[in-house]
Amino acid sequence: MTLLASFDAPTLIATKRDGHRLPDAGIDWLIDGYTAGLVAEEQMSALLMAIYLRGMDAAETVRWTSAMIASGERMVFTDLSRDGKPLKTVDKHSTGGVGDKITLPLVAVVAACGAAVPSASGRGLGHTGGTLDKLESIPGFEVALSTARLREQLARVGAAVFAAGALAPADAKLYALRDVTATVESLPLIASSVMSKKLAEGTAALVLDVKVGSGAFMRSAEQAGELAQMMVGLGAAHGVATRALLTDMSTPLGCAVGNAIEVAEALEVLAGGGPADVVALTVRLAEEMLTLAGIDGVDPAQTLRDGTAMDRFSAMIAAQGGDLGMPLPVGACTETVTAQRGGLMGDIDAMAVALAAWRLGAGRSRPGERVQHGAGVRIHRRPGDPVAPGDTLFTLYTDTPERIAPALAELGGGYCVGDTPPLPRPLIIEATP
Ligand code: URA
Repeated sequence: MTLLASFDAPTLIATKRDGHRLPDAGIDWLIDGYTAGLVAEEQMSALLMAIYLRGMDAAETVRWTSAMIASGERMVFTDLSRDGKPLKTVDKHSTGGVGDKITLPLVAVVAACGAAVPSASGRGLGHTGGTLDKLESIPGFEVALSTARLREQLARVGAAVFAAGALAPADAKLYALRDVTATVESLPLIASSVMSKKLAEGTAALVLDVKVGSGAFMRSAEQAGELAQMMVGLGAAHGVATRALLTDMSTPLGCAVGNAIEVAEALEVLAGGGPADVVALTVRLAEEMLTLAGIDGVDPAQTLRDGTAMDRFSAMIAAQGGDLGMPLPVGACTETVTAQRGGLMGDIDAMAVALAAWRLGAGRSRPGERVQHGAGVRIHRRPGDPVAPGDTLFTLYTDTPERIAPALAELGGGYCVGDTPPLPRPLIIEATP
């Protein structure tokens, strides 16, 4: 990397602060310099806040994303094959939700349907869960894969879920800085963060699951639609076929929120059971991925019934050193929340459950902090389910008894039992054309 001395950070910060467009070469200079430690954290913090307040136009966002991709390796999987036949690559990315374990069954379903899924994933930070934290609750599971190992696994098994590592290292730094400077919820910053990793991972096609609701970064369908369009545009600008679904995240997905507890639920889905919403979203996203990859004549739902998706999942876990024969961790302390009255379960607020799980130790409040793999919340009554007085509504798990009271406080205002069912909400809100 050569840093041209033609720019300086204060001038570029002032340019954005005053509402102007950042020059292309200035964006390259900033991202290069920040990745190399030559643009200071306080300068990037000020710039991020200026971007948060002033935004970036489509061309600026494309350039910012390209610079982030160029900060690390870009993998190429165009020559992958199995038994002499070329393998098509396709991936999905979720913008982050509560109880969102969909990646686990999904990569296995799509692999069982004949595609290869290279899925660079992240860790949870704040209230949202991270796929890597969930998978690491399987004893022995490794998330750091060399490119050679990744290629071999994709060709043989068809799926790999791994840490972004050398992909878009600028994003790892920027994301951590955004998290502590209240600048996460900026559309161009979210879009470039997601897409830089996904475009660098070498997938030919990408389906985005853009979450909307109380447990998502985007609270309204309008905002989520704008983010979806921005990310689809970034995919197109970089030659990756990209499509987006807007899906509901006002209530948690499924009945398990945490790490190991979500792996257990994903295994239920792979065994042909599991909660209806998790199954429905897995199958719908698989259909979208297969269509985008140009694979037809296969039924993703069938792979959950006939065990072929479970076989792919077991093979992926084994290839990454995991042992599904060992018990998954469960928090040593439990607490139940019971119904004070009978009726129907009302809405369950995704954010309240997420914060409860986080307080129990399932998430981290600082990058690098250790998560409790056995911590989490089990939901026993879903919105609309009948409830009798004394029924168990939630079970809380943690290894740290003093975490129970703060978790109960978070959960307290997040649900109700009443006489009328909650308004039905579609799981899939919209798909980009
Ligand atoms: N997921 C990401 O990878 N980045 C964001 O900014 C938000 C969600």
